[in-house]
Amino acid sequence: MASVCTPVTVVSAMEGSRPHGTTVSAVMSLSLDPPMMAVSLDSESELLRIIRRSGTFGINFLAAEQHAVALACAGRGHGKFDSIDWTLVDGLPRIAGISTWVACTVTSFTQGGDHAIVMGLVNGVDQDSVRPLTYHRREFGTHAALAIVGDADVR
Ligand SMILES: Cc1cc2nc3c(=O)[nH]c(=O)nc-3n(C[C@H](O)[C@H](O)[C@H](O)COP(=O)(O)O)c2cc1C
Repeated sequence: MASVCTPVTVVSAMEGSRPHGTTVSAVMSLSLDPPMMAVSLDSESELLRIIRRSGTFGINFLAAEQHAVALACAGRGHGKFDSIDWTLVDGLPRIAGISTWVACTVTSFTQGGDHAIVMGLVNGVDQDSVRPLTYHRREFGTHAALAIVGDADVR
């Protein structure tokens, strides 16, 4: 799957008064009515343990220049947010400068092999018109529109 381009997010949650976040590319839009999202987390993930207790999580879709944030949150430990500019939004840690914010309340956990699929009902969204951070063949990048002649405005 390294050859499949993905968005790069930091999925976040609060453990008491402490923010925690993990870099996650396995994120999908699950349902429109009701609006739902799903994320896939390693069974050994500290974030998964926290979300099982808190019942809520945020999805920070990173902007193109935030690769350092992605690397910081791809590590382990309790100090990952120490060097990150964040605020409490919808009761969850929201990182400054992201392209899209989604706040969710957990509806269910489903085991899928060595990962857990966390499904959540969306209760807050926000967007900014900054370029997104992407991941492809273990390299960070961003999206660029093709110079297509004619109507490429597909919806
Ligand atoms: C680009 C990128 C994408 C990742 N995607 C996922 C993912 O979808 N699910 C996951 O569990 N870990 C993913 N990881 C790995 C976690 O970020 C890493 O294992 C992290 O240390 C887990 O932290 P935690 O134990 O605090 O939750 C990804 C890492 C990178 C760099």
